Amino acid sequence: MKVIAIAAVGRNGVIGRGSELPWDIPEDMKFFRDSTRGQIVVMGRKTYDSLGKALPARRNAVITRNPDWAVSDAEVYPDLSIALKTLEPFARNEGKIVFVIGGAEIYSLSLPFLDEVWLTEIDSEFEGDVFFPHYGGGQFTATGFTRIGVREQSDSQSPFRYRFSVYGRQSEKTS
Ligand SMILES: NC(=O)c1ccc[n+]([C@@H]2O[C@H](COP(=O)([O-])OP(=O)(O)OC[C@H]3O[C@@H](n4cnc5c(N)ncnc54)[C@H](OP(=O)(O)O)[C@@H]3O)[C@@H](O)[C@H]2O)c1
Repeated sequence: MKVIAIAAVGRNGVIGRGSELPWDIPEDMKFFRDSTRGQIVVMGRKTYDSLGKALPARRNAVITRNPDWAVSDAEVYPDLSIALKTLEPFARNEGKIVFVIGGAEIYSLSLPFLDEVWLTEIDSEFEGDVFFPHYGGGQFTATGFTRIGVREQSDSQSPFRYRFSVYGRQSEKTS
């Protein structure tokens, strides 16, 4: 089963301000939608709340410590590893990718499970209070990962320059 974290990140590591994204980049939203459509998405409860509903045409899983939290449009798990174990047979049988779609707490928890990290790296600094883990000097620096692909993009609908980077795991997964 392939597990991929997908995120957009500012040069200073910011991924969120309060419950919001600090930017509006339609081309990146399209990239996110196209990448995850038909796959499995796993998110923290706060990211679910900021979306307001499950993402359509995807199997949605939400992680929360609250045993009473429930919604009608997503599966709920008390722990990321339990979610991944439960989703694994479906992902294998159906040939689906598990996308970890945030936020920061869930990206942090997911690091030992990830095969790849797909980052839209925006070449601007943003004010915010939520940060991608292990993001420094304008790139993802977690031990065991290295950048294996990059595509520069400039979006006519947005004032930002950004690139789509793929980081691959060079060492064995620890989970
Ligand atoms: N730029 C991007 O690509 C991107 C993507 C996604 C989100 N975001 C941004 O990220 C921010 C939200 O991120 P966040 O880090 O604050 O929240 P989050 O990761 O979405 O959710 C945090 C919640 O997950 C649950 N949780 C965390 N650790 C857990 C554990 N070990 N076991 C069980 N449940 C656990 C808890 O839910 P309970 O409190 O219910 O127990 C916790 O409050 C927003 O600003 C959003 O806009 C950005």
